[in-house]
Amino acid sequence: MKVNPLTYSELSRPMYVLEEARLKENLKLIAYVAKEADVEIILAFKAYALWRTFPLFRDYIKATTASSLYEARLGFEEFGAPTHTFSPGYTDYEIDGIARCSSHLVFNSLTQYERYHIRAKMENEKLSFGLRVNPEYSEVETLIYNPCAPGTRFGISAGKLPEKLPEHVDGFHIHCHCESGSDVFERTLSHIEEKFAKWFPQLKWINFGGGHLMTRKDYDIQRLIRTLLEFHKRYPWLKVILEPGSAFVWQTGPLVAQVVDVVEDHGIKTAILNASFTCHMPDCLEMPYHPTVRNARLVDEDGSAKGEYTYRLGANSCLSGDWMGSWSFDHALQVGENIIFEDMLHYTTVKTNMFNGITHPSIALLHTDNELEILREYTYEDYRDRMD
Ligand SMILES: Cc1ncc(COP(=O)(O)O)c(C=O)c1O
Repeated sequence: MKVNPLTYSELSRPMYVLEEARLKENLKLIAYVAKEADVEIILAFKAYALWRTFPLFRDYIKATTASSLYEARLGFEEFGAPTHTFSPGYTDYEIDGIARCSSHLVFNSLTQYERYHIRAKMENEKLSFGLRVNPEYSEVETLIYNPCAPGTRFGISAGKLPEKLPEHVDGFHIHCHCESGSDVFERTLSHIEEKFAKWFPQLKWINFGGGHLMTRKDYDIQRLIRTLLEFHKRYPWLKVILEPGSAFVWQTGPLVAQVVDVVEDHGIKTAILNASFTCHMPDCLEMPYHPTVRNARLVDEDGSAKGEYTYRLGANSCLSGDWMGSWSFDHALQVGENIIFEDMLHYTTVKTNMFNGITHPSIALLHTDNELEILREYTYEDYRDRMD
C-alpha cells in the first residue's frame, strides 16, 4: 500500500512506522563519524532491535551490542555477527549461551569476572574480556538514567581496581551519557582519563558506551571527531568503540494512532486514543517527556488547559495516569482521525507491553517510494502466549 507520510491518512489502526529514507540518513552520518574518527560504532539493541530491518544496517555497521542472552542471540543469529555484551549479572544458566554469541564480554564487577571468565573462554576461545568501570562523573541529570549516581550498581570505581588488571582483561567499558552532546563527551573524557589512563597501557580497547546523540540536528559532530582523534593520538594502541542506540533511529518515524472518542470532565477534554503511553510510549511517563504531536502545540504539561480545540491525549488502558497533555489543535478532533506522535522508534518497540491486552500497534517500514511494508501485526495469540 502507498501512503502519504505527511498525513498517514490511509491508516485506520495504530502503527509504528520506520521511514527508510530517514534511517539511511542516520546510518550514513554514523558511518561517516566512524570513518573520520577511526572508531567502531555499533548498535545498542536496548534502544532498537527490529531485526527485519537489520539488512539496512549491515551496509553501515559490522556489529551490535547486547545486554542479555536474547539480545546476544539476536545479534548472532539475525544480525549475523557476535555481539559486544554487557550485563550487570551473568548467571550459571545463561553464561554459556551468551559466551557463544559474543565477541566481547564485559563484566560489571571483579567477582563476576572471577566467577565466569574461564567458563566463558571454554565456551568461546575467541572472546575478548572487558571490565565496566565507573568514572564517577556523569552530566545526566535525570536520576534513573544516571549510571554514576552514588550507590550505583554499575561498574568498578578506580579506587577498587588493582594496579595490575587480571591477565585476560583487554578492555574497559564506560557508559555515562544519555542523549548527550559532544561537549559533554569531551568534558567526561577528561575525567575518564584522569581516573583511568594509568591502566590504558594494559588494554587493547575502550568502549565509551551509548548516549552519544550524534544524529540530533544540533549535535557538534566535528567536535566529537576531533575529540576522538586527539584521544587516539594520545593512546594509539587503543581501539575505540561507541555503542549508541537512540542515535541510530533518532527522528526516523512516528507512532500513528487514531482518536476513538472524546470525553470531558470539569471542562477538560480528553481525546481517547487506540494507543497507550504506558504500553507503547513508556519513556514519556518514565523519563518523563512530552512527545511532539504533529500539527498540534503543547500548551500545558499538567493537562489542565481548557480551550475549544485543546485536549489531553488519553490512552485506552485502565491506568488513571495514562494520559498526557494538553495539546492544542486547529480544529475539533474527530473520531477516526490520526494523532501522529513524532520520533517514536527508539526505546518503544523494545519496551512495549501487552498490559490490559490492548492491541499492540503494528510495525511497518516505509520504503523510499512511500510503499508501506507491514513488518509485524500482533494478534491475540501474542498476548496469550506470553503467559500460561
Ligand atoms: C551500557 C549501555 N550502552 C549503550 C546504551 C545506549 O544508549 P543510547 O540509546 O542512549 O545511545 C545504554 C543505554 O542505557 C547503555 O546502558
